[in-house]
Amino acid sequence: MSILLVSGSPRPTGHTISAVRVLARQLEAAGLETEIIDLAAEEFPVFRGEPVPAIALEWRERVRASEALILASPEYHGGMSGAIKMFLDYLTFDEIRDRPVGLMGVSQGPLGGTRPVLQMQQVVTTLWGRVVGPTLAVPNVKEAFDESGGFRDESMQRFLPIFVARLQEAIGAK
Ligand SMILES: Cc1cc2nc3c(=O)[nH]c(=O)nc-3n(C[C@H](O)[C@H](O)[C@H](O)COP(=O)(O)O)c2cc1C
Repeated sequence: MSILLVSGSPRPTGHTISAVRVLARQLEAAGLETEIIDLAAEEFPVFRGEPVPAIALEWRERVRASEALILASPEYHGGMSGAIKMFLDYLTFDEIRDRPVGLMGVSQGPLGGTRPVLQMQQVVTTLWGRVVGPTLAVPNVKEAFDESGGFRDESMQRFLPIFVARLQEAIGAK
């Protein structure tokens, strides 16, 4: 069982995956196992309902097998990426209901992806998922990482340990 992190940038040169990798390392440092789905590296068709493509069935299985899900979205036009919304559309109530879900927004601008976080929160609570706060926001992503591979942003430094502790609590690892 592990924490499944989903990087919601569809761009192979995107920065969201870097933030996801840093977060995954911090979770592992706290003793948690992690795995990552990088949507920029996945081939998936536009959601059209049935038949559900094999890749989405695989996503559903991986979410169901996880202890918790972390969704990371870049801020695109003031909201979440189409890729992360598509990922969520491919899931069902069965994957999200009662599951602890962490949320992280990533932006080039100063808002740190707070708007995609709010949108993801709305979707996750609609599916009865348990959002684990604090939600995380990485602003100015191009300058976001320090030499040791940590987050430079002060509020990330402050809130990340709290998030990790609450995630551990939510999955009963503490
Ligand atoms: C279609 C598109 C829309 C974007 N809209 C915003 C925005 O509204 N606010 C912002 O701060 N950055 C915006 N950005 C910049 C992204 O936040 C930036 O590329 C960041 O690195 C996260 O996305 P990435 O993982 O795809 O790189 C936008 C980028 C794209 C490609």
